[in-house]
Amino acid sequence: MAGPDLSALPEILESRPADPSELLPLLTMIQGRWRHLPQEALRAVAARLSLPLARVFAVASFYRSLSFQPKGERLVQVCCGTACHLKGARAVAASLEKSLAVRMGATREDGRVTLESVNCVGACALAPVVMLDGTVHGKVSGPGAAGLRL
Ligand code: FES
Repeated sequence: MAGPDLSALPEILESRPADPSELLPLLTMIQGRWRHLPQEALRAVAARLSLPLARVFAVASFYRSLSFQPKGERLVQVCCGTACHLKGARAVAASLEKSLAVRMGATREDGRVTLESVNCVGACALAPVVMLDGTVHGKVSGPGAAGLRL
């Protein structure tokens, strides 16, 4: 199976200084562009920043927002922090699994949606909270997680 088209990678790499402190910004840009971190891109980042590949992998695997597996076009994150848990996050998650036809922690086969859990996103007063492509949706109701439009 062919990998993703990385023709835009040189432009991304050259948009930042060739300094090790640019590792996380570059990984974030790559994640944003390809919705995951292709191995070839990680090698190119290591070379660009003169860092050991193991260090690049270590940082890439530390952050939950970075992924080695392609995420869906839309990212739905259910907060499972304490406040959201107490306000019904489990029911919201179950409802979303059903309505989106994807299991928690997985990407739908058509690549359109990834559903995952996250820790507290800092909006506890709005519990239960769901993030849709990085935007907070608060007081989400269980059945159908009303208000979420994909
Ligand atoms: S516990 Fe969900 S936003 Fe804080």
